[in-house]
Amino acid sequence: MTNLPDTMRALIQLEDGYSGKPEGPVISDASLYLAESQIPVPTPADGQVLIKLRVASVNPSDLHFIKGEYGQPRRKGAPAGFEGCGDVVATGKGAEGLVGTRVAFAVSPSGSGAWAEYALTDAVACIPLRPDVSDVDGSAQIVNPLTAMAMVDIAAKDGDAFVISAATSQLGKLMISLAKDMNLKVIALVRREKAVAALKNLGATEVLVTTARDFADQFAAASRALKPRVFLDAVSDQICETVFTLMPNNARWISYGKLGAEAPRLTQMGQLIFMGKRIEGFWLTSWMRTTPPKDQARIVGEVQARFADGRWHTDVAVTLGLAEVVEGLAAATKITDGKVVIKP
Ligand SMILES: NC(=O)c1ccc[n+]([C@@H]2O[C@H](COP(=O)([O-])OP(=O)(O)OC[C@H]3O[C@@H](n4cnc5c(N)ncnc54)[C@H](OP(=O)(O)O)[C@@H]3O)[C@@H](O)[C@H]2O)c1
Repeated sequence: MTNLPDTMRALIQLEDGYSGKPEGPVISDASLYLAESQIPVPTPADGQVLIKLRVASVNPSDLHFIKGEYGQPRRKGAPAGFEGCGDVVATGKGAEGLVGTRVAFAVSPSGSGAWAEYALTDAVACIPLRPDVSDVDGSAQIVNPLTAMAMVDIAAKDGDAFVISAATSQLGKLMISLAKDMNLKVIALVRREKAVAALKNLGATEVLVTTARDFADQFAAASRALKPRVFLDAVSDQICETVFTLMPNNARWISYGKLGAEAPRLTQMGQLIFMGKRIEGFWLTSWMRTTPPKDQARIVGEVQARFADGRWHTDVAVTLGLAEVVEGLAAATKITDGKVVIKP
């Protein structure tokens, strides 16, 4: 590792393992979970790459993770951050060809997090970026876009209409515009009336506000008219259970996020027995393990093309420097009009 510093600034985790009391991706004080620290620059092992960070994104999965409620345990003293964009500056054996390449990357479990001046991950978790994809779009190129492509594909195999919750999320917006291009109809659920017009403009067929007094009646009417078979759900609370019960025979409730703090209660078990309904989960990590590499490569290419030609873009609400995150993350994540991104 020539010309690299020995140490770097990083936002390290203060706790190990799991919290045991999942609360959802809401942060009241980031200093409970993170500290800014000067730590050694990691050394890539065989098949790994060291990346000098340009931009890292902040996703709900990062917030679940630092709170100890994600699908993998925290590591005390290790930097947080699952995803970003940067330049490969050193590699272990087998990845030398990537040196000097600007990449989008996801941090592998054996790596070192993106909320730092340098991140470490497996070479296979990097996507070389086209020059016409911006650093910010590159920093949010993997987690949400691949999930959007994979889940819309699942929905498209099960009819021409589907339902999404938390439709104002970055992922929700990606799915709405993708569905429009594929001539699929989307019933988009939001919790704020103010969000309706923008999502209609983006291409949602129906946008329903879950806090409306007659929401259940409105959804029942939309469900009768459009007959959605798949509910892609990031909220997973009691309203979502009601939505599932109002969907037609053979409907699938696919939970992929837990933005709602409330634990849903199942009220209509008979629908699972007599109407062929199913409750499932979706996790991108499992999808990547089980989807053939050639299919993943095709999808990655399509994702980059969509960002390069402007069909997709990343809305940014707040940009924080590494030194501002501990103090500013809680307030920044309350602004829900776009993503929080971190620059070194
Ligand atoms: N399973 C997977 O593999 C996978 C992969 C990627 C993402 N995800 C999940 O996808 C979801 C969206 O991610 P993102 O990065 O697109 O999110 P994001 O852009 O940060 O947006 C979050 C959105 O969630 C809405 N929201 C927050 N709490 C809510 C609640 N209790 N009820 C209803 N809406 C709520 C907010 O809506 P307002 O505008 O109303 O404030 C906000 O627009 C997250 O749950 C994330 O964990 C899962």
